Amino acid sequence: MNPDISLSSEIPETEPQRQYYYIEKAKQYVTEKAREIARPLTFCVTTFGCQMNARDSEKLRGILERIGYEEAAEDEADFVIYNTCTVRENANTRVYGRLGQLKPRKSRNPHMMIGLCGCMMQEPEVVEKLKKSYRFVDLVFGTHNIYKFAELIVSRFESGGMVIDIWKDTDKIVEDLPNERKYSFKSGVNIMFGCNNFCSYCIVPYVRGRERSRAPEAIIREIEHLVEDGVTEVMLLGQNVNSYGKTLDTPVTFAALLKEIEKIEGLERIRFMTSHPKDLSDELIEVMGSSHKICRHLHLPVQSGSTDILKKMNRHYTKEQYLELVRKIREAVPGISLTTDIIVGFPGETEEDFQETLDVVRRVRYDSAFTFIYSKRTGTPAAVMEEQVPGEVVKDRFDRLLGEVQSIAREVCSVHEGSVQRALVESVSDHDSTLVTGRLGNNLLVHFPGSPDLIGTYADVELTECKGFYYIGKACR
Ligand code: SAH
Ligand code: SF4
Ligand code: F3S
Repeated sequence: MNPDISLSSEIPETEPQRQYYYIEKAKQYVTEKAREIARPLTFCVTTFGCQMNARDSEKLRGILERIGYEEAAEDEADFVIYNTCTVRENANTRVYGRLGQLKPRKSRNPHMMIGLCGCMMQEPEVVEKLKKSYRFVDLVFGTHNIYKFAELIVSRFESGGMVIDIWKDTDKIVEDLPNERKYSFKSGVNIMFGCNNFCSYCIVPYVRGRERSRAPEAIIREIEHLVEDGVTEVMLLGQNVNSYGKTLDTPVTFAALLKEIEKIEGLERIRFMTSHPKDLSDELIEVMGSSHKICRHLHLPVQSGSTDILKKMNRHYTKEQYLELVRKIREAVPGISLTTDIIVGFPGETEEDFQETLDVVRRVRYDSAFTFIYSKRTGTPAAVMEEQVPGEVVKDRFDRLLGEVQSIAREVCSVHEGSVQRALVESVSDHDSTLVTGRLGNNLLVHFPGSPDLIGTYADVELTECKGFYYIGKACR
């Protein structure tokens, strides 16, 4: 969509027209500056955190390219944007470290700008710190007003000073803005924003706001356009996709949405994340069992195997309920690959609680698991819980858990050795340019001999050797 914009006309009040107006306006400034310095202005968006942020970064890139910026490596870009994450403390530390390194570059390049956005900016303490100690930052905005990026860039150009615009929450979803996809053949698609679950350790509901679902028609329309543009695999994104549609005026279930997406001709693969166990319905399990497009992979974060800890985490399921859910899924979708997230060292976690987690890992036998050391997030209920577990105890549990998770994943992965599976070729292999890398339905990668023209196509690949967490294979002719 690109409504006719005449800059002499009044500034449109409605979105997205207003943003297209500002895109044109920003373009005039950028063109003028490029002429002044006799070269194009360049940008780099660096993403921290989850797939939500990755998708948001594509929207930022789309806007920047429309404005006339060209993409470049971070160390030479005139406009560096960090799209930040704050789910664990170390995510914040990394951003401050990188910012410190940008400062001397900015004093050398008079055209350089630094933008910060994303989840970390939704924390008032962070913004205070930036105002006080990082005055060289040009633009600070949050997760709710990312669609206003062009308007904020214009404010920065016109004011010449630090522009800060953070909203506490929003009930608005702005559709039809530009975006620049990283891959031509696959794409993330937001189906909902925010989270209402308030797991007691988690900061996401505070920085991403209340749960809002996009209208099914808008999602379908977006996917249809993506397919017309060459996309064959979509990843539906939400913090808790299983509660999709509950807050819409005409409620729709996630399973019903999937059935509609399945009908889109030309679309080959559907993935989604993340699923909260408490909302995973029998209807969804049934749809997964009968679908030809939904990949046989489910990311089902367990967080802990101890029912006591799960209660303190506000997760709304017990160890037994989780295991029963896994049983039902495996029965309906044989061979499905299961992955998970686990937190070690939640306040009050005893050795017995930890043993329960190991027990779940051994019983479910995950294809892979992301393991995290509990990180205290100010403002969450868990941060003020007593009995924070000492660092060395947590580290010891973390190492034991990782060992168990990895040895099981290796065994699970080797089960498929020798089989032939369909892979979507994503890239030339990082390690060997005679190989290409393809993604299997179960989300694992296979490297096999092939040329770059295979990128974006599907190949039947024999998995000749399992390397633990990926395969070496050969294409079947
Ligand atoms: N919405 C998703 C998860 C988003 S955050 C879900 O509910 O599954 C991704 C993962 O980060 C979580 O699953 C959790 O395992 C981890 N995480 C969240 N907060 C954390 C914290 N304070 N400390 C350590 N890990 C955390
Ligand atoms: Fe965080 Fe829980 Fe929401 Fe996931 S479901 S984002 S862990 S509060
Ligand atoms: Fe991080 Fe925000 Fe995602 S806090 S994990 S980037 S939703």
